[in-house]
Amino acid sequence: MRTFSDRVLSIQPTGVRKMFDLAGDDVISFGLGEPDFQPPNIAIEAFYQAMKDGHNKYTTTAGLPALRQQIAESWSAYQDGLNSDNVCITMSGTNAILNLFLTLVNPGDNVLIPEPYFPLYGPDAKLCGGDAKYYPCRFEDEFVPKVEKLEQLIDENTVAILYNFPSNPTGGTLNLEQRDALLDFAKKHDLWIITDEVYDRIVFEGEHVSFMGTGYDKVLLINSFSKTFAMTGWRLGYVMSTNLDAMKQVIKMQYYMTACSNDAMQYGVLTAMQEASDFPDIVSAEFKQRCDLIVGRLNKMDGVECHKPKGAIYVFPKVEVEGMNSEEIALELLKDGVLCSPGSAFGSAGEGHLRFAYTISQKDISRGMDKVEATLKRLRNKED
Ligand SMILES: Cc1ncc(COP(=O)(O)O)c(C=O)c1O
Repeated sequence: MRTFSDRVLSIQPTGVRKMFDLAGDDVISFGLGEPDFQPPNIAIEAFYQAMKDGHNKYTTTAGLPALRQQIAESWSAYQDGLNSDNVCITMSGTNAILNLFLTLVNPGDNVLIPEPYFPLYGPDAKLCGGDAKYYPCRFEDEFVPKVEKLEQLIDENTVAILYNFPSNPTGGTLNLEQRDALLDFAKKHDLWIITDEVYDRIVFEGEHVSFMGTGYDKVLLINSFSKTFAMTGWRLGYVMSTNLDAMKQVIKMQYYMTACSNDAMQYGVLTAMQEASDFPDIVSAEFKQRCDLIVGRLNKMDGVECHKPKGAIYVFPKVEVEGMNSEEIALELLKDGVLCSPGSAFGSAGEGHLRFAYTISQKDISRGMDKVEATLKRLRNKED
């Protein structure tokens, strides 16, 4: 008997959620990529005021024109001439990803996707009848893909490549030379670039390197207010492109997904962008300190090797314990009161790693690292 669609049966819950669901309340949680700050107060007040002012209605599908214009202007250092027509507000980055896959992918097409990956990409490609072809981002290469590898994977059904820098889960970032090599690859094969840059404002060294402003008109950018303004629960993000034909299709698709995005909240975000524009920098400075702390601690542990990320809110160290895979290690850590994600939750290329989201206070990071150190010692039977 037919029960549910093949589509829904073909996707599984993510490994990140699986660990999270097993955890009790008293764990030190490095589990979710959710900033532990309140959004700017002024934004909360603007949101409340907007509701009182009657902004409790449908908006135009593409979103509040003033917010779209503000977003366009916020990218002027990267790209001249952007305006509200280049932006479609979505109900989160998550929503923006599905929109782009639905807009670009036909059944039988495939999309090149980084591995280790943000766990939604592959299933989203599948939901559109497409396939994910995973390209490796290796520890040895500081999690930046090699063009030779991309060349080996591409075929006549490849329609797009997804880039995610700064990366979840690896914290990998690009320099200009690396960006240009990845851009040239996409241009050479006439691929759409879906560039997920939700961590663009959480960068610790130099400027964020974007695929916007490269002059290639097949770039579609995904962004979100979840991380930069600590608004994960507000569910607002956007798609942006210089390609107005593409934007027309994206906006049409958005209508069929959500009709429009949250009305009053868009006023809250607009106020955040206008009046708390330094908030992301303050948050980023705190994340940098946490990053230094956690990397320092991890690199002092036996069998652990960790790059120092230049962005995002994660570390993705190699963690070796003889005879144990990453899920088994993560389960042992959980028993001892630390929640993290096994690298395998981000694809087979993540095996041998653990992901720690440093979205807790420096004090809790230190307490958590004490526990990790003790657990790893125990697992190696090295306890004195
Ligand atoms: C790389 C990446 N893209 C997109 C998202 C989605 O963010 P949101 O749906 O909260 O906007 C996340 C969230 O963790 C992420 O890490």
